[in-house]
Amino acid sequence: MKFDAIKDVLEGMRPTEIITVSEWAEKYRYLSSEASFLGGSLYTCDVTPYARKIMDSLSSYSSYQEVIFCKSSQTGGTEIGNNWLGYIMHISPAPTLMLMPTDGTVERNSKIRIDPMIDHCAELKKRISPKRSRDGENTINQKKFSGGVLYMGGANSAAVLKSIPVRFVMLDEVREVLTHWRKLEHVCGRTEKYIMSAHQRLMDFL
Ligand SMILES: Nc1ncnc2c1ncn2[C@@H]1O[C@H](COP(=O)(O)OP(=O)(O)OP(=O)(O)O)[C@@H](O)[C@H]1O
Ligand SMILES: [Mg+2]
Repeated sequence: MKFDAIKDVLEGMRPTEIITVSEWAEKYRYLSSEASFLGGSLYTCDVTPYARKIMDSLSSYSSYQEVIFCKSSQTGGTEIGNNWLGYIMHISPAPTLMLMPTDGTVERNSKIRIDPMIDHCAELKKRISPKRSRDGENTINQKKFSGGVLYMGGANSAAVLKSIPVRFVMLDEVREVLTHWRKLEHVCGRTEKYIMSAHQRLMDFL
């Protein structure tokens, strides 16, 4: 336990590569064969050229505070977000929250895309607790890595935003996320309160 803590501190002091999210994805991100027609090969912006600018706006040296991708279906939006999550866990570690509409969508993304992304990237594998550990550090909803934790939750649960201070927030399928928040309004207050709550998690870090 003590040794793990020292290892974490030393890992945190190691200089990381100066690299953008798109460069990271093209160097380190293998696509899952369960998810992509290019499964088993490295992510490439040749397939989705518009993804490069969006991803680079999410890089650690970018001055953007908020990046919004207005898209049609099946245009690589979730993969862009997943690339950002991989980048955070490797290059720009900090506590991070990823919200999808339901626990079911979170579970699918976690098992079919996030786990293979980690399994096929040596740099991520050495930073993230192994799945077999019984301490709950690497689960469907949570990935602990050197310098942070990635929390993944469904917006159908009010508990997901509570008591988690994070630096980065990713919302996938925002329209559905908002629909769930509206349904929860009568239990927990106004939708705006939830959006504020997500922002508040960020403000605690700024
Ligand atoms: N650059 C890429 N190279 C190869 N495959 C890709 C790339 N970007 C996305 N894909 C694949 O294309 C499909 C659609 O991608 P994704 O699920 O990220 O799109 P989406 O916009 O989130 O879709 P939806 O609107 O259904 O949520 C997936 O199978 C994904 O793995
Ligand atoms: Mg998607």
